[in-house]
Amino acid sequence: MTDKAETKQQIDDLRAEIEQHNRRYYIEASPEITDRKYDELLQILDDLETTHPEFASSTSPTQRVGGAPLDRFNSVQHTVPMMSLSNTYSKEELAEFDLRIRKLIPEATFDYILEPKIDGVAISLRYENGELVNAVTRGDGTTGDDVTSNVRTIKSIPLKLSDMMPPAVLEVRGEIYMDIAGFSKLNEQRQDAGLEPFANPRNACAGSLKMLDPREVATRPLDAIFYATGALDGVSFDTHEKMLLSLKNYGLRITPNYWLNSTIEEILDQLDTLESMRSEFPFEMDGGVIKVNNRSLYEDLGYTAKSPRWAVAYKYEPEQAETTLHAISIQVGRTGVLTPVAELEPVQLAGTTVKRATLHNEDEIRRKDIKIGDRVIIEKAGEIIPAIVKVVDKKRTGAEINFTMPTACPVCGSDVEKREEEVALRCINFQCPAQVKNWIAHFASRGAMDISGLGESLVEQLVDGGLVKNPAELYTLQKIEVLGLERMGEKSADNLITGIEESKKRPFDKVIFGLGIRHVGKGAATILANEFKTIDALIAADISALEAIHDIGPIVGKTVIEYFLSQEARAVIDQLRATGVNFEQTETSGSNELEGLTFVLTGSMETMTRDEAGDKIKVRGGKVSGSVSKKTSYLVAGESAGSKLTKAENIGITILSEEQLIALLGSDDEFKDKKAGQMGFGF
Ligand code: IVH
Repeated sequence: MTDKAETKQQIDDLRAEIEQHNRRYYIEASPEITDRKYDELLQILDDLETTHPEFASSTSPTQRVGGAPLDRFNSVQHTVPMMSLSNTYSKEELAEFDLRIRKLIPEATFDYILEPKIDGVAISLRYENGELVNAVTRGDGTTGDDVTSNVRTIKSIPLKLSDMMPPAVLEVRGEIYMDIAGFSKLNEQRQDAGLEPFANPRNACAGSLKMLDPREVATRPLDAIFYATGALDGVSFDTHEKMLLSLKNYGLRITPNYWLNSTIEEILDQLDTLESMRSEFPFEMDGGVIKVNNRSLYEDLGYTAKSPRWAVAYKYEPEQAETTLHAISIQVGRTGVLTPVAELEPVQLAGTTVKRATLHNEDEIRRKDIKIGDRVIIEKAGEIIPAIVKVVDKKRTGAEINFTMPTACPVCGSDVEKREEEVALRCINFQCPAQVKNWIAHFASRGAMDISGLGESLVEQLVDGGLVKNPAELYTLQKIEVLGLERMGEKSADNLITGIEESKKRPFDKVIFGLGIRHVGKGAATILANEFKTIDALIAADISALEAIHDIGPIVGKTVIEYFLSQEARAVIDQLRATGVNFEQTETSGSNELEGLTFVLTGSMETMTRDEAGDKIKVRGGKVSGSVSKKTSYLVAGESAGSKLTKAENIGITILSEEQLIALLGSDDEFKDKKAGQMGFGF
């Protein structure tokens, strides 16, 4: 082979290898290599493509986020219209749906298939000869927006189908959704940044898909599940189930659960099972979709103007409760944003007692006409923090009181301001104790500098006592000063001082995260640390250098620049540096003792959140997956573990308790202070 032919072969092999790992990671949830090795492969491919531009390809895994921002989206006509489903909330109507079908096709024998109804944004992908050519929203059902460059950034969506002989045309339809945990984080970041939070994951998802800059979209936690087809050429499926399994084979994600049954009665039972699993899905599920499994019957059953007669959606009632709004309190966040919080008469909702609900900002209170003393309906969807849906108008007595946002910070009394383009009010005082406390708590938290012994009440005391005004001052604390604090003995004082000292060794990415730069979460901090290696290089970075980084996007880029331009921030960095905090990227701190093992975490744990447990597993080279399969090495079962535990037991997966997991992770310091990570500062 010539050199050129060899390079081409190498590039092709790498692309196929990376696609294969993508598939194992996203579709089968059983990765074979570490993230690090995956990134290395991608880097090698990227280097080869840069030196050999003649072999560029839009379907290369390096080309997910590419191209300049768009001015607008083009309209595309759907080859097969995108219909919707008829909806019902009543099981009687489902029985009628069944009767209607049996009247239309009295001779036929068939099954029903039940799948979750995903509350996201409908999408149609078109693959020609196995390559993704476009992604179009439903629009009016006939014509939609071409959002291909945004959809390409979703890593679980293959740019190339994994099949040696793909069909000439495969149009698949499904739902793009925002991961629930990712949605909560995104809203927290938006609130910190003074931006309007999204009302729910679906709005956040729709908003993300409408953004014109794919680099921004790439930072949003989007994912997709496919459940139907559009135009097909060179392939056909006789049942819905076979279609789903083929999509999975092509490398497209399908629903994690479905049920096949011959009678509608069985389906009615399983709708209840599905509803009980509601909080286990990473997406919001608003119902179940019941479809005739045998596709050969679709023509005979036909269509109404809007929807097929062979399918119906059964919607679940949202989980709601009525209670009284006693008061509206104000929280001051790390970036000084004032957030109103509803203080409620405690009420049971979806298995938990709810005492507080988010109100986001004043606009929302006005929009919903919420007054103190109102009877209100609260709702919880998935695992999202409860929100007030509406006021029960007819229960008003006239004694309710209008709420207005304070004109001064409730913590330090300084003025509050509304910045241009922001909806939120902010305390203007950089040294406001609330901001300082939140900042220090964040700096000391598990995901950041992980200072054991520095809990909520201690941070309060340190700040209120004037001992610490910023995170750098922690490092000059003297034991004698600490001993003067409430409930502080010799031993705890020693532990605290040692904990602070120890934290100087934390890797650079933890330090960056600890600085509390707006929009810079753990992921972005790691990327910045890997990219720039030292704080000086990061400080010197200009906007184009930041924007050029994969997964960093212009908003993060801009806030990073703004942060390092601030005198106060620079002073703290200098102080931290002088005390010996690590401002350089050394080799990653993780080990590989869990390499090759896949964990599934379910139920709630006592000493840490599932996210934290996942981080600890990943740091040690293990993988964390959302669903149980034969490839699962261990299922970690916390309190009230549900169907995942049953499934794992059924297929003989080893079950670990929280204690066993902790033992497996090793007995390092991080478990000693179990409460340190659980501070009430809202991080
Ligand atoms: S089948 C011909 N299956 O719900 C109809 N739709 O309210 C094909 N949806 O337009 C749709 N989960 O956007 C189908 N498992 C599922 C679904 C699902 C969510 C959405 C879809 C549809 C809407 C109807």
